[in-house]
Amino acid sequence: MTHRRKLIAGNWKMNKTAADGAALVTELVGTIGKITDVDVVVCPPFTALESVARAIDGSTVKLGAQNLHPESSGAFTGEISAPMLRALFATHVIVGHSERRSLFAETDAFINLKVLAALKNQLRPILCVVESLAEREAGATLKVVQTQLEAGLQGVSKEQMANLVIAYEPVWAIGTGKVATTDQAQEVHAFIRGLLTKLFTEPVAQRVRILYGGSMKPANAPELLAQKDIDGGLIGGASLEARSFVELVNAASAAK
Ligand code: PGA
Repeated sequence: MTHRRKLIAGNWKMNKTAADGAALVTELVGTIGKITDVDVVVCPPFTALESVARAIDGSTVKLGAQNLHPESSGAFTGEISAPMLRALFATHVIVGHSERRSLFAETDAFINLKVLAALKNQLRPILCVVESLAEREAGATLKVVQTQLEAGLQGVSKEQMANLVIAYEPVWAIGTGKVATTDQAQEVHAFIRGLLTKLFTEPVAQRVRILYGGSMKPANAPELLAQKDIDGGLIGGASLEARSFVELVNAASAAK
């Protein structure tokens, strides 16, 4: 079986000023800045990208953005493009987060354009596929995940898949303290990997990292990260404090 290095990505959402963000990552870098067996990415708000980039310089911590616009430039008031993110040394970008889908009405087609724009500009997309409580209760989980994945990955080549990360987010577990059971999470992750085998090839599917996102915390991380197809976490709440985030990175390191 292909060995996949674990990835822990912190999504700060709309939290932290430029100064607060720099202070947080300075603390992180002091503790985990030399860790090499886990990939660590922090995704601050746009306004903190520059100060955080400076604070992580020389460490193994990588910088991600939370969103991008598919176009490179133009009349798109309030938007930020992939080349702009690259100029701030971002290497990753979250695409299609559940909050972007539900609060900002992002469609699968628009999300797909963002994925393609990120890849074209050497940014690694973290493509989120999400599931609501109603969908889970209706037994529609795998179907909605499949639809989002197929639409989001339209036009992505096998080679480009090496630079793409997928995150599975049960919306009912985000910021709620509820967590999908490890079996529920593993089932969906395995389904996603199976789908990637069909859409691409077995070796491609074996290489792609699939993160779990939804109230991952130091207490539940070891069990989740021990699952065969769970390759890391997209962390909201627990990424806002150095202590809990460091514990998650350590859990990923122990689980490898
Ligand atoms: P949470 O957020 O860890 O606060 O539940 C996860 C996410 O939004 O991806």
